[in-house]
Amino acid sequence: MFFEDHPEFHETSGIKSDRMADDSPSPRLGNRYRGIVLENISLFKDATVLDIGCHNGRWSMAALHAGAKYVTGIEGRKEAVENARRIFAGQKWVKGNYSFLFGEAFELLNNFAWPFDLVLCLGFMYHTPHHVKLFEHFHRLGKTVILDTKTVKYNKPVTSYMTESVTSPGCALPTFGKTAVVGVPSRNVIYYLAEHFKFDCTEVNWRSVGITDWTNCLDYYGGSRRTYVLRSKA
Ligand SMILES: C[S@@+](CC[C@H](N)C(=O)[O-])C[C@H]1O[C@@H](n2cnc3c(N)ncnc32)[C@H](O)[C@@H]1O
Repeated sequence: MFFEDHPEFHETSGIKSDRMADDSPSPRLGNRYRGIVLENISLFKDATVLDIGCHNGRWSMAALHAGAKYVTGIEGRKEAVENARRIFAGQKWVKGNYSFLFGEAFELLNNFAWPFDLVLCLGFMYHTPHHVKLFEHFHRLGKTVILDTKTVKYNKPVTSYMTESVTSPGCALPTFGKTAVVGVPSRNVIYYLAEHFKFDCTEVNWRSVGITDWTNCLDYYGGSRRTYVLRSKA
């Protein structure tokens, strides 16, 4: 599958769970590909895509491979953007159908005025406390959104705030010294904001996407990480 054919995304990943203790690739990226791309493959066809917190461009390239027309990746870590640009430059088939912008996500999002067919917000929501603002941008910019996030277990729309260290390349950007305050939403936060901003909301059933090896993926198995498809009703 896609990530087996593109080991460069494992090699340049700054995210611990993408690797095993011996540094070999973990099944995580390949498993996530099943629930994020394969389960939603029709959303990618001919789509213009915005990839928020795109890291080394893994999902941007997966989106093009799945049939997207053009991908815009935004990322606040310089090294990650440089990796994305270098990896894309090495692939002739992606020429001219992507751009990567370096900067803080909300600052960049404020500058977009046109809608995208598909917004990918994967592994980003729990690195910010600004969930309402994020959904405002979804409403303004996305006909459809794939939202993949950690969640906390509460039966109410509750966000759990915490302080995150920002020293690892997969984390939040610093907002206070070497830390940032971030918020992890409950699943009811997602449904509440989806309803408010007029999205239909469905959830990927991770246990039925064909995963056989759950190594480094127990968060998806147990439901502390979830993936939603938001379709604009506007
Ligand atoms: C956990 S990684 C997720 C990478 C990828 N989207 C995925 O799901 O595999 C989060 C990424 O978002 C970036 N990021 C976090 N906070 C950001 C912000 N405020 N603005 C821009 N990028 C940010 C990080 O640098 C990191 O590359």
